[in-house]
Amino acid sequence: MDSNDIMKKYLKRIERFFDTEKIINENISLEYITNYYRSSILAYKVLHTFRGYMHMGISFDGKYKVSDLLTSVKIVEEYINSRKISRVLELASGNGVNSSYIASRNPGLDIIGIDLSTNPKKNVNGYRHINGDFHNLSVFPDKSFDLIFIIEAFCHSQNKEKVLEQCFNKLKKHGLFVIFDGYSRKSKLSDKDMKTSALISKSMAVDRFISLKEFKTLVKEFNFKIIEEKDFSLNVLPNAERFRKISNVYFSSYLFHKVLTKIFPMIELQNLIALNLLSLSVKNNLLCYYMHVLEKN
Ligand SMILES: C[S@@+](CC[C@H](N)C(=O)[O-])C[C@H]1O[C@@H](n2cnc3c(N)ncnc32)[C@H](O)[C@@H]1O
Repeated sequence: MDSNDIMKKYLKRIERFFDTEKIINENISLEYITNYYRSSILAYKVLHTFRGYMHMGISFDGKYKVSDLLTSVKIVEEYINSRKISRVLELASGNGVNSSYIASRNPGLDIIGIDLSTNPKKNVNGYRHINGDFHNLSVFPDKSFDLIFIIEAFCHSQNKEKVLEQCFNKLKKHGLFVIFDGYSRKSKLSDKDMKTSALISKSMAVDRFISLKEFKTLVKEFNFKIIEEKDFSLNVLPNAERFRKISNVYFSSYLFHKVLTKIFPMIELQNLIALNLLSLSVKNNLLCYYMHVLEKN
């Protein structure tokens, strides 16, 4: 069976477990995103790591290791060390673990995180946290950051122009904006692919995955230059495959699913749909995972 056939089989199975039409038609507001992450704290800890990282591991040897969760963070750190960088902002900093890791290894660095749904311990290793929406960075003066980064949350924005505009204003000249995220590989999707993509995105509280082409068109509207672009799609596959296997245990028993729906909120269980389909959607060239480094001109 090839990955297309497996996808079809999985979709049929998911339809038996969940009201997929309802999920696809969900309105993903900021309140919905906040509720999704607050309800899913335990699931993220169990499925990712208790250390609090909420993003994909990037593996270079074809095997997933917990330390692969640090690959993206280390790439950001390399950029910090390669330039005279003193002020950094992390958008959607989640549990604050990315920025506090960087802060602990770079004394003297001023690093702030902003996140909608979390409020981790403040001032850990010189890292400061603000609870807020990354569409509104007005608390920070213009031209005050050397580098801004965001790992797997740009996709949550339904007003990406606003985020790019805010970041452009808050960065100093030649400042960097580093983005790790998932995109739709193709610009035009068949109805079937659109439905699958929507099912995956909505089950992760993402309205829709924009295409790489749309992303580049958006970036062009601002005086940003893409100075590095890396396709890490194959490198997130080992992590995504791990998710597929774990979620297969869930989807192996309808009774088990029924019992869990009595214990856990639906919004949390729905995430298993994305976990089940992610690796197949990468293999089928539906979704991809990229890093972009934008420089303010
Ligand atoms: C997949 S998690 C990634 C967290 C973190 N970047 C990491 O690598 O562990 C997505 C995060 O984006 C945050 N988020 C989503 N929309 C946001 C917004 N408009 N403003 C601030 N944070 C937001 C969520 O609260 C959540 O913590």
